[in-house]
Amino acid sequence: MKKQFFIANWKSHQNVKETKEWFDTFLMHASDIQQDSEIILCPPFPLLSLCHELIHMRHLPIALGSQTISSFPEGSYTGEVSGKVLKDFVTYTLIGHSERRRFLHETDEMIASQVQLALASNITPILLVGKKDAIIPKGVSFVIYEPPSAISTSSGMHAEDPEEVEAIASFLKHENGVLYVLYGGSVSPENIQDYTRLPSIHGVIVGKESLDPQAFSKIIQHA
Ligand code: PGA
Repeated sequence: MKKQFFIANWKSHQNVKETKEWFDTFLMHASDIQQDSEIILCPPFPLLSLCHELIHMRHLPIALGSQTISSFPEGSYTGEVSGKVLKDFVTYTLIGHSERRRFLHETDEMIASQVQLALASNITPILLVGKKDAIIPKGVSFVIYEPPSAISTSSGMHAEDPEEVEAIASFLKHENGVLYVLYGGSVSPENIQDYTRLPSIHGVIVGKESLDPQAFSKIIQHA
């Protein structure tokens, strides 16, 4: 079986109480997770420490990722979270989510700097792109293809057509030497297999459905 990644992107949802409840419920439902599945949880920054503790206390097979990383190194950049700070908690970082490109005006230059700083801190960058001809900075081996129009659509109705996803994933892999391509956009327990069965796809990123631990564990189990 091929290796599959399941990324939970909590965006700016969940507080301390909800996080503890999420772990309790996830534990009850996530009993038979396949060995070659890797789960990566990306909570908001203030919850990284708590999630780190909960994962270690309960010996859970979950890796942590941040939702972004600063474009600046450690220094006088108020409000920023640098690779040096993150590396005590995370193995991965998302970079270039379309919501950050759109609402926080992240540019390709900032994204290239984030990739370099993540690599310098031994954090694996996971780059999100919304189109086939996206710029992929050197050193990126993980890419998520996520068309913005497919994000959080009602009841997953407008998730991207799987044949289109396969064509783009295979292009991204062969043109850029990317190791893993994942899909994102309205992934649910009902449509997960449409994507995980694709030869060039190695997993998914899940936003809305990852907030419900039962739905998220179903996605992993139905893959
Ligand atoms: P969604 O979000 O699963 O709610 O579409 C995915 C994402 O934006 O990462």
